[in-house]
Amino acid sequence: MVAALEAAIMTALSRRHFIGLSSGLLVAATLPGCALTKEYQTGAQLTSTADLPEQFTVPLPVPRTAKPTDRDGADHYEITQRNAEVEILPGKKTPILGYDGEFPGPTIVSRSQRPTVVKHTNELDIPVVVHLHGGHTPPSSDGFPIDFVMPKGTHEKPHGHAAGGDIKHGHFAYEYPMRQRAATLWYHDHRMDFTGPTVYHGLAGFHLVHDDEEDALPLPKGERDIPLMIADRAFDGDGAFIYPALDPTMSEEPGVEDAYMEGVLGDVVLVNGAPWPELEVDAARYRFRILNASNARRYRLRLDPAPSSGHAFTQIGSDGGLLARPSGHDDIITAPAERFDVVIDFSKYAVGDTITMRNDLGDGSTANVMRFRVTRKASDDSEVPRELSQIEELDPGAATVTREFEFTLGGPTSDHSGMWLINGKPYDPERIDAKPRRGEIEVWRFITDVHHPVHVHLDPFQVTRRGGRGPGPYDKGWKDTVDVRPGEVVEVAIRFADYAGKYVMHCHNLEHEDMMMMSNFETL
Ligand code: C2O
Ligand code: CU
Ligand code: CU
Repeated sequence: MVAALEAAIMTALSRRHFIGLSSGLLVAATLPGCALTKEYQTGAQLTSTADLPEQFTVPLPVPRTAKPTDRDGADHYEITQRNAEVEILPGKKTPILGYDGEFPGPTIVSRSQRPTVVKHTNELDIPVVVHLHGGHTPPSSDGFPIDFVMPKGTHEKPHGHAAGGDIKHGHFAYEYPMRQRAATLWYHDHRMDFTGPTVYHGLAGFHLVHDDEEDALPLPKGERDIPLMIADRAFDGDGAFIYPALDPTMSEEPGVEDAYMEGVLGDVVLVNGAPWPELEVDAARYRFRILNASNARRYRLRLDPAPSSGHAFTQIGSDGGLLARPSGHDDIITAPAERFDVVIDFSKYAVGDTITMRNDLGDGSTANVMRFRVTRKASDDSEVPRELSQIEELDPGAATVTREFEFTLGGPTSDHSGMWLINGKPYDPERIDAKPRRGEIEVWRFITDVHHPVHVHLDPFQVTRRGGRGPGPYDKGWKDTVDVRPGEVVEVAIRFADYAGKYVMHCHNLEHEDMMMMSNFETL
């Protein structure tokens, strides 16, 4: 296996696209063992031509909470996807694709066990697909990549591979039963071949689920429970996003310019759509729901200065909701699509202090994320309990099936040169690569050449092995996305429970996803 993996890495690395990586990293990636500790980005960075604002001068926006239009047996929402212009860089207008014309889109808040129905109307001029990431959703509403919602007013039929999808015209009501625990979910576009550019241009928002178990805990709430969507972008002189699409109209030819095929990185870090913002805080505990909504960028988040005692971050939740017990971190490494729910205790700082959230995997402008300013003392009756939840441990020893998924770049001699592949194959919306039976535990092994954040739809998993050892510090709890590093093998235990049907699993580096690193499975 190791020899095969090394061969795959060598093939991948021999492509000219990899020449940009430092040679030290190439060596590290080809030596099993070294690869396990080396951290870097998979992707190429764009350079903004706009004048960028001074860091920490824009206040942190918090996306608005959507209001239900109806509450019968379900909570009903209506969202219109449209072109809009928003102010991201002070004094400039950025054209976006926006849920209700906003970026991030409005936050939807659901109650566990109470269905939520979101009717999306497509007033854009391109087809869309909406996926609720982390949702336990029936197949018809999961946003299968060719189930297009065509632009309102057109009666055009999609051609090519998309012709086989469940096509809707103008609008579609996505139904979410919400038979799942409290967690930080997000919704975003998932159209085959074009998810990278559409998400980059703004189609992403939070969807939070609350439940009684979590409400009963004395965690920070209300104004002190804030979602943070971290995403990198680049801007041209007029304030428009720069994205190196081969087809800027996002209609015919998928993919990006060769130099960016490993992933698109921006030089501006946005949090909730604002560049390096500042948040004024009380000297109290806050819960932050950190989402890495970047197309390709990984971050290593740290607080500067670190608190004089204890850990900077107390992690209380991951992709799939509360951990069993809190977990302290001095820094957090997060790959695209992962969520970390953390508590930061600003009472460890003095009024007047400023605390910068740094990114140790970035340099220059991307070494900073945002800043907190402690403005006053305040009462705080919140607490982080030692026990948060009970989590059933999936026993990999009880697995009925073990499946392997190799995430590699097609080498120059392969039939799929320059495409990102799973088990040597590019995505085909018609092909089913696995048929797991519901209710049974399976072990899925993810094997990589370079970094690949692997995401599975429908039900979450638990990381059981990483690089021949136990799970890493960021693998705790129920996960739906796992950061698999170069030349690494990660094993997860997964059990599909909810719905029978056809779903996708894929790399959540969106350029890899668009360039075919996706696979279908069908739950039986
Ligand atoms: Cu967040 Cu299949 O995606
Ligand atoms: Cu998903
Ligand atoms: Cu990938």
